[in-house]
Amino acid sequence: MNILGIETSCDETAAAIVKDGHLVLSNIVYTQIPLHIPYGGVVPELASRAHVEKIREVVSAAIESSSEKKIDAVAVTYGPGLSPALIVGLNAAKGLAKALSVPLIPINHIEAHLHTPFLDAEIEPETMTPILGLAISGGHTNWIDIPSYGKYEIIGQTLDDAAGEAFDKAAKLLGLGYPGGPKVDKIAKEWRENHSDKEMIPFPKGRPREGVSALSGLRAELCVSFSGLKTALLRYVQQNGGVEKLTDEGEIPRIVASYQEAIVQAVADRTRNALKLRDYKAFLIGGGVSLNSRLREVLSEVAAKAKIPILMAKPKYCGDNGAMIAALGYYRRNKVEGAFSIDVNPSLEVGE
Ligand code: KG4
Ligand code: ZN
Repeated sequence: MNILGIETSCDETAAAIVKDGHLVLSNIVYTQIPLHIPYGGVVPELASRAHVEKIREVVSAAIESSSEKKIDAVAVTYGPGLSPALIVGLNAAKGLAKALSVPLIPINHIEAHLHTPFLDAEIEPETMTPILGLAISGGHTNWIDIPSYGKYEIIGQTLDDAAGEAFDKAAKLLGLGYPGGPKVDKIAKEWRENHSDKEMIPFPKGRPREGVSALSGLRAELCVSFSGLKTALLRYVQQNGGVEKLTDEGEIPRIVASYQEAIVQAVADRTRNALKLRDYKAFLIGGGVSLNSRLREVLSEVAAKAKIPILMAKPKYCGDNGAMIAALGYYRRNKVEGAFSIDVNPSLEVGE
C-alpha cells in the first residue's frame, strides 16, 4: 500500500511516498529556513505563503521521483503546528485525496516523529512495545509511554521551553544565527574535541521542584524546565562583558558546549527516571533535536545501561518530513472516518 504524506506544520514544505509504512519511495523536503533567517525565527504568515507557493511543486516532485506512481491514500499533518501553515497542507491533501478518490488520513505531527526510527527499517513497532518515547523538537519535549503501538500517554514534559527552542534562543543571544540547534551542535562538538568536561561552566540542569503547579499532575523527576538555564546563560554573558567581548576572547564555544551539556544531561537524567517506571523493551527518540550528536551519544549510553535498544531515526528523517507522515498513515489507515471534514488543530496533543 502506497501512501502519500504531506507535511506543512512549520517551516518545511514536505511530501513523500512510503510503501507499507516502512519503505520510503520518495521524500521531498523544501526548507524555508533562508526565508526566516532575517527574523531570527519562523514568521507564521511568511511560512504560510511559502507553503502555498511550493506545495504543488513538492507534491509533484514526490510523485515523479517515486518508482511507484500508484497512490492508495493521502496522509497529512493536521496538528500540532502553526495554524496558517497547517491549513495549506490539509487543504492540499483534501483536494488531492478527493481528486484521486482515495482515503484521507489525518496525522499527529508528534506521533509521526515517534515513528521515524521505523522508516527504511524492517522492525515492526508492535514487537518493540512497551516503548518509552521521547519527542524532542522545536516545539516539544515529551516523555511518552507507548504501552502498545498507537497508544500514547505523556508522562513527562518541559514546563516551559522545548529543548529545540532552548537551543535556538541561546544561539540567537550569542549571535550564532537561526536555527540554533545545528550550529550549537557543531560548535560544541569542535570544542569537546580539545577540552574536558571539567572546563565547562556549571549551568543549571533544569530540574523542576516537586509540587509546582506547572507540573499539572506530572512527576517532577520526569519533567524539565529550561527557563532557569536561559536566565543563567543571559546572566553569565552580562557578567562577563557581553557577547562581543566573549566572542573576541574566544569564549563562545565553551559557553555553547556547557549550555548544550546542561540540556543533554537534564534530558538524560529524566530519561533514566522514566526508564525505571516499567520494563520497557525499547527507548525511542524522534524530532529535530534527536539529530543532536551529543544527545544521541549520551542517550545511547543511558539505553545501553538499561540494557534496552535505542531506536533513532536516520539523520535525514529527524527533521520535519513527509515520509514520517506517510509511514504513520499506514498504521492509521483504518482511522479515516470524517477525515474530509477535519480542521487543523494547532495545539493537538499526542494520544488525542
Ligand atoms: O522537528 P523539527 O524539525 O521541527 C519541529 O517540529 O519543531 O525540530 C526543529 C528543532 C529546531 O529547534 C532546531 O534548532 C532543532 O530542532 N535542531 C537541533 C539540531 N538540529 C535541529 N537541535 C540540536 N542539535 C541539532 N543538531
Ligand atoms: Zn517536527
